[in-house]
Amino acid sequence: MSINIAIDGPAGAGKSTIARILAKELSFIYVDTGAMYRTMALYFFEAGIAAEDEAAISSACGNVAVTIVYEKGEQQVLLNGENVTGKLRTEQVGNMASAISVYPKVREKLVVLQQKLAEDTDVIMDGRDIGTCVLPNAQIKIYLTASVETRAKRRYEELTAKGQSCELAKIARDIRERDARDMNRPVSPLRQAEDAVTVDTSDLTIEEVVSVIRNIYEEKIQK
Ligand code: DC
Repeated sequence: MSINIAIDGPAGAGKSTIARILAKELSFIYVDTGAMYRTMALYFFEAGIAAEDEAAISSACGNVAVTIVYEKGEQQVLLNGENVTGKLRTEQVGNMASAISVYPKVREKLVVLQQKLAEDTDVIMDGRDIGTCVLPNAQIKIYLTASVETRAKRRYEELTAKGQSCELAKIARDIRERDARDMNRPVSPLRQAEDAVTVDTSDLTIEEVVSVIRNIYEEKIQK
């Protein structure tokens, strides 16, 4: 049986950074589910479909093929055969992803794909509903969080390092809005699974967070 590690939490808590390092250390496959929602968002955005138009989005879902492949151990996402990985990490695509992820048709499509990826493979999967909906039987569940201020500062530094101009106050506002939407949507809202361990990363370094989760993993798997 494969080992599944589920990492959930709000935007900017450090899920993908931590999951990527841990996956390398443990020789697991890292599955970034946010990238799948971002890919669907990119499709709707480029097709000129408004985020508010649930009917149009639901019926267009059938036109979108999201495929996950791995190149040198890194996840790549194909949108109808085209590698769009490099286009996904903008604030615009992130906000659109949050908006369209409330629709059941979008979620149904991606959850099936995520469950298939974890079926026979040791995976670390991060997202919002992994421990609660996608992999309810994951052996290890982590709820990774951090204060809004810390998360906004991290995103600001990430974007400025890439040369993108941005404003700290606006990023913090977007994070609050995104949290509210992700936590209050009726379908698969972001919430901590009952059997998840919370790790607050506000005052921890990346290495410290990795080591906390690694210890949780080793304790659980050795038992
Ligand atoms: O983790 P991220 O910022 O790349 O995710 C983008 C959006 O996708 C997020 O705001 C909500 C949605 N999402 C989701 O609803 N469920 C997931 N498992 C992952 C992401």
